[in-house]
Amino acid sequence: MRVTVLNGVNLNILGRRDPSLYGGLTIAELEGRIYEWARELGLMVNCRQSNDEGEFIHWIHDAYDNADGLVINPGAWTHYAWSIRDALEPLAIPIIEVHLSNVDEREEWRRMSVLADIVASRIIGKGPDGYREALEYLKEKE
Ligand code: DQA
Repeated sequence: MRVTVLNGVNLNILGRRDPSLYGGLTIAELEGRIYEWARELGLMVNCRQSNDEGEFIHWIHDAYDNADGLVINPGAWTHYAWSIRDALEPLAIPIIEVHLSNVDEREEWRRMSVLADIVASRIIGKGPDGYREALEYLKEKE
């Protein structure tokens, strides 16, 4: 099973952001764990991060023909980027939305997710382990 893992805007500065919300791992360390979990589960994972909305959307388009599952944390785009929702809508594979922090227990504006109603599952507030749970979910559906 091929899984694309997309991290969006500002997730490259993990490690500098509030560790009480986002933990202390850098994006490289987080991706390292994701690759390790994928290896344990027998999944072929491709991790990418971008601060450029257009590039991020191109990677979603790439997933149409090249992935069997998508794990996505769009960062702040989650809350307002309808272009990302539009790009995700034609995907015929399971999409798992992940957030490191518990977006439902923070500022009001973070409770809104443009993708919430088109994803198979939302995993929020579990830190890096949320990505592992997302991979396990996809493995079970394989
Ligand atoms: C986030 C939550 C978003 O509200 C925030 O803008 C982020 C990270 C998370 O993983 O907790 O950048 O997606």
